[in-house]
Amino acid sequence: MQPPDTAFAAEWAETLIHGRRTVLPKRLAAPGPDYAQLQRILRAAAAAPDHGERLPWRFVIVPQMRRSALAEVFAASLRERDAQATEEQVAQAREKAFRAPLLMLAVCDTGAAGDEIPPAERLVSAGCAIQNMLLMATVLGFGSALTSGKAMGSRGLRGLFGLGPQEQALCFVNIGTIAGKKRGRERPDAASYVSELGGPP
Ligand SMILES: Cc1cc2nc3c(=O)[nH]c(=O)nc-3n(C[C@H](O)[C@H](O)[C@H](O)COP(=O)(O)O)c2cc1C
Repeated sequence: MQPPDTAFAAEWAETLIHGRRTVLPKRLAAPGPDYAQLQRILRAAAAAPDHGERLPWRFVIVPQMRRSALAEVFAASLRERDAQATEEQVAQAREKAFRAPLLMLAVCDTGAAGDEIPPAERLVSAGCAIQNMLLMATVLGFGSALTSGKAMGSRGLRGLFGLGPQEQALCFVNIGTIAGKKRGRERPDAASYVSELGGPP
């Protein structure tokens, strides 16, 4: 790939990468991506590095008509964890299923025991695929967020999404129109996470 103007492309890519901010689902409104935009977002995942070409991840879109099934899973998971949960807390857990216009579950296939490509590499690939989608959503003008929580490993969620024994639910990908923004977090300085072999840690 040869950008027409490398300096411009680098500046633009930097703006995009640093411009992506978590916009929590309560601040995401309709409309979500249309069909063509959704295809671009989904195709972006395919550009993720994938050692051994295992395609170790998949995404499950939760359409509006299935949101109530997910809401029940969230509610049941909370009740299982906390038998004292109030009706208000259960209602809040349910409500999380309805927020983002586009809601997808990211699933990683961690692989069979002894597979040449270990779970860590598969998870890295999944993370890259997710980030590609977030960046594509950002450049299309949408807000996005990853959400997780204690229900991710619940039996109810695994059953609803038909997860296989080697599959792990990683997080939900939420995408929609930005209805409100919080000030972004301060990103860490590169010096706080980069060192040189042989130098100080
Ligand atoms: C796997 C994963 C799961 C996440 N789950 C949640 C979540 O449940 N709730 C939440 O507020 N943020 C969640 N986040 C988002 C982070 O909190 C967010 O990226 C962080 O606040 C930094 O904000 P930024 O993305 O704007 O830099 C999750 C992030 C990742 C990578």
